[in-house]
Amino acid sequence: MDTAYVNGQHLPLAQASLPVLDRGLLFADAVYEVIPVYAGKAFLLDEHLARLEHSLDGIRMRNPHSRQQWQTLLTELIKANGSGDMSLYLQVTRGTAPRRDHRIPEQSTPNIVAFCQCRTPPGPEVFIDGVSAITAEDTRWARCEYKSTSLLANVLAGDDARVAGANEAILVRAGRIMEGASSNVFAVVNGQIKTPRLCPAILPGITRALLLKLAQEAQVEIIETDLSEQEFVAAEEIWLTSSIREIFPVTQLNAHPVGNGKPGPVFAQMRRLIQACYA
Ligand code: PDD
Repeated sequence: MDTAYVNGQHLPLAQASLPVLDRGLLFADAVYEVIPVYAGKAFLLDEHLARLEHSLDGIRMRNPHSRQQWQTLLTELIKANGSGDMSLYLQVTRGTAPRRDHRIPEQSTPNIVAFCQCRTPPGPEVFIDGVSAITAEDTRWARCEYKSTSLLANVLAGDDARVAGANEAILVRAGRIMEGASSNVFAVVNGQIKTPRLCPAILPGITRALLLKLAQEAQVEIIETDLSEQEFVAAEEIWLTSSIREIFPVTQLNAHPVGNGKPGPVFAQMRRLIQACYA
């Protein structure tokens, strides 16, 4: 996992770098994707590339590559890193500016970096005991639908969770559940499966969309709706999804058990559906 891609070149990850005037570094003027790779194959690559396009549009950048070019670039990088199970990180910044200036330059050449890391899906203990989470105020900006690298609010919320001895922070905006600091949220409330309806403040998760599709095919209803903090903290079951952590249950919320404090039957059913896709 030590070969990185920087602007058309493969080089050792430890030597991969961008200039200090890169706008991604100066302003978080950049978007990214994290794509899981199973046995050398990027999972749902098209969906990730579509979301990358959405993010680039959102920050008023032209996509530097066609779908086909991205596919080739990423497939070559996966090969250079041994084609196993991994996660692929891809970032596109607005490029290196001549000087630090907030204004978007009229012309710029994006910087593109990508590298692979070991992927650590949840261990078996997570499915026996679940994880704990806290609720936290969502202090992020209003356009979290774009996967931008300005993640400081996510990082700090994640650290609040760590300080509380928890695994993830669930972000609450004006009394409504949005998503986890690095995951999407599902809950069973009064016997109904609910997930927050997409809005500009929520990342349209690829794993979230996959689960919605699988549930629909299995004729299990998941309601995309507003989810109040009040109903969420009283949920019978809660689980989270992300490309890296797949699907994992929350069994403690704000130091109180969720339901009976064990992963629930609806979670088990959802996990079975999604596991079949990864196999
Ligand atoms: N993050 N919401 C947020 C805020 C996220 O950061 C992520 C994933 C998700 C889940 O989206 P997906 O299913 O497409 O991975 C939802 C990645 C893994 C990260 O930043 O590392």
